Amino acid sequence: MRRCTDLVVFLWVFLTHTGTCTGIYWLGLTVNGSAVKWDQTQHCKLLDELVPAQQQLCKRNLELMHSVVHAARLTKVACQSAFSDMRWNCSSIEHAPHFAPDLLKGTRESAFVFSLSSAVLSHSISRACASGELPSCSCAPAPAEQAAPDFRWGGCGDNVRYGLQMGSAFSDAALNVRRHGSLALKLMHLHNNEVGRQVLLDSVETRCKCHGVSGSCSIRTCWKALLGVAHVSQQLKVRYLAATKVVPRQAHGRRVLVPREMEVRPVLDTELVYLVSSPDYCTFNARHGSHGTVDRQCNKTASGSGSCGLMCCGRGYNTYREQVEERCHCRYHWCCYVTCKKCQRSVERYVCK
Ligand SMILES: *[C@@H]1O[C@H](CO)[C@@H](O)[C@H](O)[C@H]1NC(C)=O
Ligand SMILES: *[C@@H]1O[C@H](CO)[C@@H](O)[C@H](O)[C@H]1NC(C)=O
Ligand SMILES: *[C@@H]1O[C@H](CO)[C@@H](O)[C@H](O)[C@H]1NC(C)=O
Repeated sequence: MRRCTDLVVFLWVFLTHTGTCTGIYWLGLTVNGSAVKWDQTQHCKLLDELVPAQQQLCKRNLELMHSVVHAARLTKVACQSAFSDMRWNCSSIEHAPHFAPDLLKGTRESAFVFSLSSAVLSHSISRACASGELPSCSCAPAPAEQAAPDFRWGGCGDNVRYGLQMGSAFSDAALNVRRHGSLALKLMHLHNNEVGRQVLLDSVETRCKCHGVSGSCSIRTCWKALLGVAHVSQQLKVRYLAATKVVPRQAHGRRVLVPREMEVRPVLDTELVYLVSSPDYCTFNARHGSHGTVDRQCNKTASGSGSCGLMCCGRGYNTYREQVEERCHCRYHWCCYVTCKKCQRSVERYVCK
């Protein structure tokens, strides 16, 4: 694993697919980011991985950095949990800002990680606004749409607009600079970042609170709230599975990405796009960032991606028994505590050969 812009990688990964992993260097803030207070501009140097444009944003919006650190942590958890039953299990962002080669290239996996991290960053900022953590923003203004007769807008909505604005400034900053690295890859990341934010924008629900005499609910106030990060990552996983392979073309004097199989149609702003095909992640291959699935746990009764057939790529699996400890025979004692016993239960586990 090496840093994206390392000369080594520059030569190692082919010229057309270099650089521009810088866009997600900030995921590395999980390591040291929570240890600092983010009250001095020199803290922005903590990550030399932050490109100059991001450093500028950091210096001018120090208070925002807590949300960035939070988003980095959430992104990691969301990615690994969304892919825990897949051959590629998102372990490549574990050591951010040092990324494995699967994320250095324009793969489907990097499409997912970029879109997720940009969505999560905006999510985290939107929430921080509503919870009063940021001096520069607060609750969202009342939605433009008419309130229904049985409620009025009130409460405190997540400030999605501000979140999208600051989030995109930060996420896209690293990609809008002229540096080495292929233009196609930058276009790909910018596009996927936008897809992530679009999914976020679609992940709002209306929540309401009742008022009135003893829960009569004669008055309701409602606000727009973001669904959880897990919902966003599930939506993006669906798009990951249906992602479109694209190629760069010259159109009207500028570079654009078009679907490889169907060049006549433009790329849709709902689809994730990628430039290079990924290996099947069945076997270990350091050059492609594939860990292989040997020793991965699989599910004997499932039929999807986590099934032993698909997870183990047809190699078969080993079965072993494991003792798990559970709380059992719980009893309630007046008043007010519960005691439980500990029971051992034997479960069967399956791991790929
Ligand atoms: C985190 O801090 C340690 C000690 O200060 C340093 O050695 C390390 O390089 C830092 N890691 C990152 C990712 O900045
Ligand atoms: C992902 O899979 C690799 C091996 O294939 C394993 O070493 C690693 O612990 C897994 N990571 C997670 C987060 O499940
Ligand atoms: C295995 O898959 C089945 C069917 O999808 C599911 O009900 C079960 O919870 C899974 N088991 C584990 C250990 O994940």
